Amino acid sequence: MKNSTLLRILMVITSGFLFVQCTSDLEIPDPIAGPPGADGINGIDGTDGVDGTASCVTCHSNATREPLVASFLESKHFNETIMFNGQPLSVYAGSRADCAQCHSEEGHVDYLTMGTVDTAGYSSPSSISCSTCHDQHSTFDFENDGFDYALRNIDPVTLVIDESTVIDFGDASNNCITCHQPRNSYVIPAENGTGTYVITSTRFGPHHGPQSTVLEGIMGANLAGSEGYPGVGTAAHRTGSSCVNCHMGESSDPNEGMHTWNPREESCVTCHPNGAPDEINGFTTDFELLGTLLANVVGEEYMEDAEGDPMYDVDGNPIGNGVPVVGIIVNGRSQTGIYTTAEAQAAWNYMTALEDKSKGIHNPGYMRALLKNSIEALQ
Ligand code: HEC
Ligand code: HEC
Ligand code: HEC
Ligand code: HEC
Ligand code: HEC
Ligand code: HEC
Repeated sequence: MKNSTLLRILMVITSGFLFVQCTSDLEIPDPIAGPPGADGINGIDGTDGVDGTASCVTCHSNATREPLVASFLESKHFNETIMFNGQPLSVYAGSRADCAQCHSEEGHVDYLTMGTVDTAGYSSPSSISCSTCHDQHSTFDFENDGFDYALRNIDPVTLVIDESTVIDFGDASNNCITCHQPRNSYVIPAENGTGTYVITSTRFGPHHGPQSTVLEGIMGANLAGSEGYPGVGTAAHRTGSSCVNCHMGESSDPNEGMHTWNPREESCVTCHPNGAPDEINGFTTDFELLGTLLANVVGEEYMEDAEGDPMYDVDGNPIGNGVPVVGIIVNGRSQTGIYTTAEAQAAWNYMTALEDKSKGIHNPGYMRALLKNSIEALQ
């Protein structure tokens, strides 16, 4: 950050206040003061508002910054706990053109500013830091324009898995969507006329952070069943709360809220005064039952062409080789093969619940319908 610029702006604003103070607070003695009049009627309380420019220091002070930075140092954005091919994620995935948009600062910034990453990849990618998400204020008129927190992105986000879908959480949570959405690596299974779906990878499912789409109530494979699907964008946690409300609450504990992104109980009590449950009703039972059913699904190996890709007949049906595959998902990983559409849809929904990592909390009604209807389809 350009400290000199900040200091210059702050000095200009501070001297602005001094000037106002000097002129308006002058006391002019009144030579012929009469007796004091009766007290007037109390005015109506004003609405709470944002405190204009005077609030620079609420964010730009050491008192705000030190605990915030300490909390960031506890976060998984900073402490990469996941190793991949022997390297931290930001080094391995952050350098690859097909991953860098979400896994390194360079890739993320290029994606946001130019709409695309460097197709050559990045030779020395940086992990997520302050400047991955923050840049500069787009406005200083916070009163009329709202706080932008100097975020690079608070605008609605077009999904990579479906360019006709835009998500707008209406607050700083839009910052999260660019990365916490499914990659466009697999087509969500749906009836296509063949009744089948071919899985060609052991990583089938929404990679890896479908939290935004789950909160919105979209991008599951909506199998018909006894549980209705709630309307898009209608979950109470979507309309009454948000990513930042649950994950970035104010906190004096450097291990929760703020820039740890660990949810705090205090973010739940306004709506759940007796304490919030730590999973949706029946989640563990349903999730485990669905996992068992999926491990027993029997598919068929496909015939491979010279490149190892599946072969199809003239009508577009995949050609099997007669060898059974037991388990569409086993221990959280998919097995390649030909399956029915419904089996693949149930597998997609299971992987969505697994990758969302909130035990259904992000969208209780939607997750319940995905799990229960998937179980019904397999039984
Ligand atoms: C659209 C954004 C996006 C893209 C593109 C992306 N990732 Fe990720 N990835 C994420 C997010 C977000 C997480 C963390 C999800 C979580 O913890 O809930 C993640 C997590 C991971 C994990 C850890 C999974 C786990 O839970 O153990 C691996 C490994 C990974 N990514 C590899 C890759 C690779 C390799 C690529 C490119 C082929 C890639 N990612 C592309 C967003 C993305
Ligand atoms: C993954 C994205 C991300 C990263 C990384 C990040 N921030 Fe933030 N930051 C946010 C978001 C989103 C908000 C708005 C939170 C809200 O709406 O309450 C925010 C808010 C803030 C605020 C205002 C705090 C307040 O109390 O209102 C400050 C100051 C700040 N960040 C500084 C930093 C610093 C310093 C770092 C690095 C140590 C950092 N941020 C890293 C996303 C990020
Ligand atoms: C709601 C919190 C918040 C308020 C209020 C706020 N800022 Fe910021 N500002 C941030 C964050 C977050 C950053 C970027 C992260 C960082 O480096 O601190 C930032 C960055 C900056 C920067 C460096 C980037 C740039 O734009 O060149 C300047 C200068 C700045 N702010 C000036 C101000 C001034 C002047 C005010 C008051 C009119 C103000 N800010 C009010 C949160 C805030
Ligand atoms: C630049 C991409 C990016 C942005 C923006 C981003 N994240 Fe992340 N997030 C990631 C990646 C990648 C990981 C996995 C890091 C790791 O474990 O190596 C992650 C991890 C997390 C985790 C920990 C996940 C776990 O498995 O324990 C939480 C919680 C989280 N992010 C929440 C948020 C929220 C809330 C926002 C918006 C304020 C946000 N993230 C913005 C990329 C991003
Ligand atoms: C109603 C509150 C709430 C909202 C809204 C919410 N989350 Fe969560 N989120 C949680 C809870 C609670 C967990 C489970 C945390 C745990 O088990 O440690 C969680 C889990 C996660 C995880 C996995 C963390 C881990 O440690 O495994 C990520 C990543 C995440 N949320 C990101 C997001 C993003 C991005 C958004 C917005 C699209 C969001 N969340 C909206 C409450 C919320
Ligand atoms: C804006 C109010 C609001 C906030 C904040 C909120 N919740 Fe909720 N929550 C609700 C409402 C309303 C329902 C019931 C409707 C539904 O299922 O969507 C609900 C349902 C749930 C359920 C599902 C119960 C079930 O099985 O049907 C869980 C679990 C839950 N909340 C956990 C949390 C957690 C954890 C937090 C904080 C991190 C939180 N909630 C924050 C309003 C809220």
